[in-house]
Amino acid sequence: MCGIIGYAGSGGDSDTLEVLLHGLGNLEYRGYDSAGVAVANASLSIEKRGGELSELKDALAGNADGFDGSTGIGHTRWSTHGPPTDANAHPHTNAEESVAIVHNGIIENYLELREELSEAGHTFRSDTDTEVVPHLIERERAGGADRETAFREAIGRLEGSYAIAAVYPDCETVFAARHESPLVLGLGSDGNYLASDVPAFIEFTNRVVYLDDGEFAALSPESVTVSDGSGAPIKKSVETIAWDPEDAGKSGYDHYMRKEIAEQPRAIRDCLRGRIEELGGTVTLPELEGLETPSSVQFVACGTSYHAGLYGERLLQRRGIPTQTFIASEYDAARLPVDESTLVVGVTQSGETADTMAALRSANRAGATTLALTNVVESSAARECDHVLYIRSGPEISVAATKSFASQQVSLSLLATALVDSASSAAFPPREYLRELRRLPDHIQSVLDDSRADAVAEEFLDADAYFFIGRGYNAPVALEGALKLKEITYKHAEGFPAGELKHGPLALVTESTPVFALVSSREQAGATIGNIKEVQARDAPVVAVTDDPESVANHTDYVLEIPETHPAVMPIVANVQLQLVAYWLANALDRPIDKPRNLAKSVTVQ
Ligand code: F6R
Repeated sequence: MCGIIGYAGSGGDSDTLEVLLHGLGNLEYRGYDSAGVAVANASLSIEKRGGELSELKDALAGNADGFDGSTGIGHTRWSTHGPPTDANAHPHTNAEESVAIVHNGIIENYLELREELSEAGHTFRSDTDTEVVPHLIERERAGGADRETAFREAIGRLEGSYAIAAVYPDCETVFAARHESPLVLGLGSDGNYLASDVPAFIEFTNRVVYLDDGEFAALSPESVTVSDGSGAPIKKSVETIAWDPEDAGKSGYDHYMRKEIAEQPRAIRDCLRGRIEELGGTVTLPELEGLETPSSVQFVACGTSYHAGLYGERLLQRRGIPTQTFIASEYDAARLPVDESTLVVGVTQSGETADTMAALRSANRAGATTLALTNVVESSAARECDHVLYIRSGPEISVAATKSFASQQVSLSLLATALVDSASSAAFPPREYLRELRRLPDHIQSVLDDSRADAVAEEFLDADAYFFIGRGYNAPVALEGALKLKEITYKHAEGFPAGELKHGPLALVTESTPVFALVSSREQAGATIGNIKEVQARDAPVVAVTDDPESVANHTDYVLEIPETHPAVMPIVANVQLQLVAYWLANALDRPIDKPRNLAKSVTVQ
């Protein structure tokens, strides 16, 4: 996700441009695809570039005239609205360049604001949601507001999530505001800092103030003030933090995978943001405008994304749409019934997986309508397909996919609801279903807070193999639980639809093969408990992941409890327990969790 740095320097030893570029370097771990800086003097000096931070540095190395002011802001952008071009990189300004803005988050009502401003004569130069902000400020200034009031009024018009910082020419103050995106202030001896995360300025100061939602800050070289939306001052406590720069990117976790597991509530909130209207029971995906309800759907994907496809298949089939999921490397549209009313969905976090790309090209050649469900803006899959739905997971660094799988499942839930009018569906009463999607981040948070997965993992360090079973919506998560465990622990693991166990794999079940069973109180619980009894009779230890501990109490050795929810939402929550089991097992076995042997994050060969 985007990174922000701001600095109001007191003209001491620190050079503003150096502070900004250094801060952006320390924020690189957040993931980005373009970068930029603005320094305030009599006018604003701005440089921004799509691509690596090195490209911005190269551009400035040739021409840093005008960048000698004491106040500035910088940004690393992770594209959400528009590709990673120079024009879309931050900072953004109004036409006269009388204010510059950097922003992290998503402004939900930007289309509405853009239309309003365009009608008033403002012209826009980028595809971003952010660009409305400098124009809103310009309008307030034209109406006579001072700099701080203009900033505050403009922010008051925004809906969505944001951490925003602004600088003006001839002004030594950085103005900032936050709502649902992180922003922290640093109090230094050479001036004051702000950033998305502490590593951006930790070399300069470890005295910090964390901004809360709805708060505004004004940083001058000598002082920092924090206020609420009405301008009333807020007294904040200053914290002194101990920090090991080695841990910078991991926010204090030992591994990116653990951090990314913990980020799932936030990732899901971002995925849902502005897309559901619970009261009306509707889902709005403006990016899919013009996409008709298809006659059939084919998912093409690999690995974890294939498991997401299997989950999406169940969601669509139960809404009456014939759907199949293919391992991308086995897909050939020419041999399948495909025409323009067939929707072929490439599920791919990276958007670059060669097998999935080949499958999508084959679908396009056969005349299908194609859709990329991806995390990466302007990725190859996004460019190949007729339509794109971004899963908004934020950058995922650990090779093992975790939060992106959750965001894929949530995006597929939205897609299925948007594609099929389920107003009269007994299985998906729209209001109840959307309420459960909205509550999903809280359910996952409660699992993260209370999980006993570490203790369970500890019990089974020496097992011969690990099996995972589930039915219906839970069957894909059984496969995913096994994939995650084998990938990072190097131990043998297999997942099956629970009913399949007795058709072969049961021969492998012994007292040394724990079986993880996903049991939903609202989906074929009796049948799954029957399968549990089969493995218990062969002395295998059973771990139930369930929303109904009582019903399994007599048949299991361990229970990993999850909150009760809609049966189609349950697997997204249950999977978090399985992620944690895999993580703690790999941790106890001292595996290189973030970079398992022989595996790569983006597989660009067929
Ligand atoms: C497993 C994992 C892989 C990917 C697969 C597809 O943890 O990450 O199985 O899911 O390589 O990658 P994408 O989704 O980028 O196409």
